[in-house]
Amino acid sequence: MSFPIAIIGTGIAGLSAAQTLHDAGLSVQLFDKSRGSGGRMASKRSDAGALDMGAQYFTARDRRFLETVHQWQARGWVAEWKPSLYTFNDGLLGASPDEQVRWVGTPRMSAITRAMLGALSVNFSCRITEVFRGTEHWSLQDADGQTHGPFSHVIIATPASQASGLLAAAPKLAGAAASVAMDPTWAVALAFAEPLDTPVEGCFVREGPLDWLARNRSKPGRDTAMDTWVLHASSNWSRQHLDLSKEAVIEQLHGAFAELIGCALPAPAFSLAHRWLYARPASNHEWGSLVDADLGLYACGDWCLSGRVEGAWLSGKQAAQRLLDHLH
Ligand code: FAD
Ligand code: NAI
Repeated sequence: MSFPIAIIGTGIAGLSAAQTLHDAGLSVQLFDKSRGSGGRMASKRSDAGALDMGAQYFTARDRRFLETVHQWQARGWVAEWKPSLYTFNDGLLGASPDEQVRWVGTPRMSAITRAMLGALSVNFSCRITEVFRGTEHWSLQDADGQTHGPFSHVIIATPASQASGLLAAAPKLAGAAASVAMDPTWAVALAFAEPLDTPVEGCFVREGPLDWLARNRSKPGRDTAMDTWVLHASSNWSRQHLDLSKEAVIEQLHGAFAELIGCALPAPAFSLAHRWLYARPASNHEWGSLVDADLGLYACGDWCLSGRVEGAWLSGKQAAQRLLDHLH
């Protein structure tokens, strides 16, 4: 009897790996410390509807990824978002239209990983603390002291900072993961009872605390009564204000938004803040995935390629492909 393959992390990288292995007829068992899938593509439920607090949209430049995104589109999991784009630079807000195709999950970003997960077997609210190998197979230990296994292989699909500890059985891979610095991002959502009097739907911000803002409601399938916005602080500002209270972060980013948006800003009916400690790798890598094929240990995630949804999807697929190549 062959054992299933363990995959730690149900972000887009872990699920891309899971689907590739499942399609090849192999059995997988997924684990995630959160209560649901998505990782940094998660959406937060709120009184103002679901809000995309992490990844805002994604582009598809790789042919294989684009083909997959078109399949997702045909199934209604994603749609094109065509925001009215602006930049804020030198104190000026200016229109900045372009031809780039941008995709979002519908009716929320988390819909993609939810659909990819389908009927695959998963343990949520299960933080893995140790990955260890017996003579013939792998086992996992979780934060509650429970052991899971046996598994034939393990794929670690968490951010680099968490992957390094889980890769202890392969010190070289652990060292590579430990060398990846990941930058934080503070995210704030604001909901206004009346629509703001501005044509802006997305804005790349080049100065001050903010880096990006999006009119969440302008994305396809978001039917909310309120005018909802998501603001992202820059990596620098987020790092400098890592331990600020959520209330203070909301106040400061709301202030920066009021200064740049160029229209009256009433008090929000609703606001929330989320701190992403490991939001993006500080630099890109060309590893694709990290592999010790003889041991049967693999690592993938955006940090192995580019810090984008596409990079994470490609990395997960590559880890699974390398596992399949080694089996055959
Ligand atoms: P993750 O999504 O982080 O998934 C890892 C999973 O592992 C998580 O679900 C986590 O709970 C789980 N996990 C971690 N440790 C453990 C453990 N010990 N045990 C069990 N489970 C564990 N990309 C774009 O392309 N476009 C954008 O506009 C964009 N904007 C972004 C904005 C923000 C604020 C952030 C944070 C990211 C953004 N990104 C964007 C980046 C994109 O979200 C990521 O590149 C991508 O989602 C990473 O996927 P992943 O599967 O590698 O990791
Ligand atoms: P993209 O091609 O839309 O954007 C890439 C970059 O090009 C943008 O950051 C922006 O600086 C510039 N740009 C693109 N279109 C522009 C326009 N019309 N006017 C002015 N500048 C424009 O998307 P891609 O390459 O898929 O990148 C994903 C996005 O996700 C980036 O904006 C990146 O900053 C963001 N991201 C944010 C993270 C965070 O933690 N806040 C983490 C990972 C990605």
